Amino acid sequence: MSNQKEDTTYTMGRTQAETERLIRQSQMYSGLTRRMLTEAGLTNGMKVLDIGSGAGDVAMAAAELVGPEGRVVGVDVNPEILETARARVAQAGHDNVEFVAGDARTLDLDSDFDALIGRFVLMYMADPAEALRQLSTRLRPGGIVAFHEIGFTTDRRPHAIDTPLAEQLFEWTIEVFKQSGAHADLAYRLYGTFVDAGLPEPRLEYTALGGGEPGWPGYQYIADSVQSVLPLLEHFGIATAEEADLATLPERLRADVAAAKLPVILPTTAMAWTRLPEDDG
Ligand SMILES: C[S@@+](CC[C@H](N)C(=O)[O-])C[C@H]1O[C@@H](n2cnc3c(N)ncnc32)[C@H](O)[C@@H]1O
Repeated sequence: MSNQKEDTTYTMGRTQAETERLIRQSQMYSGLTRRMLTEAGLTNGMKVLDIGSGAGDVAMAAAELVGPEGRVVGVDVNPEILETARARVAQAGHDNVEFVAGDARTLDLDSDFDALIGRFVLMYMADPAEALRQLSTRLRPGGIVAFHEIGFTTDRRPHAIDTPLAEQLFEWTIEVFKQSGAHADLAYRLYGTFVDAGLPEPRLEYTALGGGEPGWPGYQYIADSVQSVLPLLEHFGIATAEEADLATLPERLRADVAAAKLPVILPTTAMAWTRLPEDDG
């Protein structure tokens, strides 16, 4: 039912470098995501469904919150990345996390989950509201829905808050997301996405990470992200490998910060969470 519209050409690609990027990305965003899961009410003993698990970081954060009495099922459409997720979960000593490969919208999953969660995943689905509507049928009454999504827009441009190089990279990225069919501005549409999915209006928090100091992990994170989208940047004629010059990108970003005396501000992310009504109101 959800697949009348076409999903994105998966913008970030499916390379080992992308898997490693996701792990480093998680190191930057884990504090925020974990706080959202806590605020949303994930607690001991819950059974959690994590959509678009990737290398497993959100599933592992959930596993810590639900403890050994709880359980986490992570789903990803990419079976290979789940091999990494399984190895990392085993290494972390969680025996209450399992991963299932497939499209989360069409997999045959239980319908008694206490929570439905995900990070940076709805944006890749053709119809995020319809996906949420379907996925929330996997929840018990009173179940939690909590998603952390990113928001690339050009709205920030007029404020001249970006260094010239950061501004160019954001423009390329916005364009590549747009052309690949992803909802790059989903953070700003997350409220409407929840409402259109028939969910109770969510609580929301918007945050942008930033940095400027030497050694800030964001420089490498941006270079990693450009590396992942480079095949599509070239495919759509947005930028070439020579223009991206990945090898020098982190140091050029830092030099730009020093020259412009402006920090690099990563795209705003939105965290949205709500609870289904209990049975019979
Ligand atoms: C940007 S990654 C985020 C991974 C992880 N949530 C994190 O924050 O580290 C998005 C993941 O969602 C997966 N994905 C996209 N569409 C999906 C779908 N319909 N069902 C299941 N997984 C999906 C992709 O394969 C990818 O691994």
